Amino acid sequence: MFKNRDVISILDFSREELERIFELAREMEAHGKKKINLLEGKILATAFFEPSTRTKLSFETAMLRLGGSVIGFSEVSGTSLAKGENLADTIRMLDAYSDIIVMRHSIEGAAKLASEVASVPVINAGDGSRNHPTQAMLDLYTIWRELGSIDGQSVALLGDLRYGRAATSLIYGLTKFNVKRIYLISPPLLRPRQEIMDFLKKQAVEIKEGENLGEVIGEIDVLYATRIQKERFPDPSEYEKVRGSYRIDLEVLEKAKDGLIIMHPLPKVDEIDLRVDSTKFARYFKQAAYGVPVRMAIISLLLGAGGD
Ligand code: NCD
Repeated sequence: MFKNRDVISILDFSREELERIFELAREMEAHGKKKINLLEGKILATAFFEPSTRTKLSFETAMLRLGGSVIGFSEVSGTSLAKGENLADTIRMLDAYSDIIVMRHSIEGAAKLASEVASVPVINAGDGSRNHPTQAMLDLYTIWRELGSIDGQSVALLGDLRYGRAATSLIYGLTKFNVKRIYLISPPLLRPRQEIMDFLKKQAVEIKEGENLGEVIGEIDVLYATRIQKERFPDPSEYEKVRGSYRIDLEVLEKAKDGLIIMHPLPKVDEIDLRVDSTKFARYFKQAAYGVPVRMAIISLLLGAGGD
């Protein structure tokens, strides 16, 4: 079911497959920080053409905990790409050196291209504004772990729903489950792109759009906040118009459900008041920590070491 597959979009995975990943991640979690020698002798290559902290480090941690090794780069300036080598040639080399490739790129479709060139599995660790499938998997896992199920939940996504690939991928992922409702809360300039709205129209899921978190805070079980993706704005003056346009503070949380969880793919900038970090609602640091067991599950399944 998983062996040798590429992970390009969350849409390529069925609900059953996602649940298989969650169950294995839960087992991985039980090992804590102990190393298990499931992938001894295997090499994971990271090819990061865009900045990353959590995604890159959690993939590396996951591989090391599985007993494997890691190679890779995160600075194009340190590679032959700076000498003009094309992407396909770089990927061909990583394909020869490693057993699995994790790649992040600013161009949509770059991971797909890499997967066509490479014979080893390629994991898309974010390409452009649309896909970041393993982030969506760990986000869904966080909801599943923290609330017991994804079905029946009311999930609000807040912020940059236009350029944010984490938000877009989570929207795609949520449609695999029977959520009660998805709320899309953003300033008009940051509303989801038409292709996403068109996709949602074809799904059996109730959508509510709005601009004001205060109006819906009492109805939701999950609040997924995002950073404005400044670097993806084609026009910097557009960014200036939306800068600081939303923020989660203690006041808005007064009306929240008791069991609300607040998530964020991180990095957060100023969209969450720092005082929210120590409330019972905050789950974003735990969410980031779940990235390791979820990625351990994904890597071992793709390398045929996690069962079928
Ligand atoms: C996100 C990304 O790179 O898309 N970060 C992440 O992987 N956790 C979100 C972001 O950069 O805002």
